[in-house]
Amino acid sequence: MGRIVILTGAGISAESGLGTFRDADGLWARHRIEDVATPEGFARDPALVHAFYNARRRQAAEARPNAAHAALARLEAESSDAVTLVTQNVDDLHRRAGSHHVLQMHGQLTGALCDICGHRWAAPLEMDEETPCPDCHRAAARPDVVWFGEYPHFMEEIAGLLAEAHLFAAIGTSGQVYPAAAFVEDARAAGAETVEMSLEPTAVSHLFDSCLTGPATETVPRWVASLLD
Ligand code: APR
Repeated sequence: MGRIVILTGAGISAESGLGTFRDADGLWARHRIEDVATPEGFARDPALVHAFYNARRRQAAEARPNAAHAALARLEAESSDAVTLVTQNVDDLHRRAGSHHVLQMHGQLTGALCDICGHRWAAPLEMDEETPCPDCHRAAARPDVVWFGEYPHFMEEIAGLLAEAHLFAAIGTSGQVYPAAAFVEDARAAGAETVEMSLEPTAVSHLFDSCLTGPATETVPRWVASLLD
């Protein structure tokens, strides 16, 4: 039995109606990263940051997994290899599509984190500066997502998985945010075959053995079928 590691980014959820970050109409064209995705921005204006994540939480709750999420769940269920999904996405569409082994390295919209005591709990649909921590009872709730300047989750586990991978795929990610953008190099160093699936070539396409361009709902089911059938 081999090991397959798949990294996903915002592009896999685009056809579920969730915006990407760096496409022309992406989230970072309309919001400043410094304002809504850094600890400093949250300290400056928590109401603005909560409003941003409340809107994203609502959109994610209304979105449905698409054929690309479903295909990856099928791969995990039917492959004789161990399949791990490492996702930069904070939506929960992989789990709702039926994937079990999912590492959300940038956290999750459905989670709340106390900025003071570190307690974690299920986020209500709407949070604001008054939302109390159920553990320490202070009003310091923040979304349980990893902001710029913070350390992603599961890094040690991911390094171990990449070191054992025989196949690594990156799907719907622009390759502009580290450490995820460097996973392809770790996988190559471990001798894995590498494949990229994205709407168009990315800044890191040259690092992959092969690149499949097109919408994820077309490329991913085709790629999964080619592995399984
Ligand atoms: N199918 C496949 N790929 C797509 C699709 C689609 N339907 N639509 C867009 N893409 C591609 C884009 O061409 C781009 O290469 O998905 C990629 C999305 O890139 P980004 O918007 O940069 O998203 P991502 O790589 O996930 O961003 C990484 O940046 O701001 C942070 O924390 C945030 O997790 C995020 C991280």
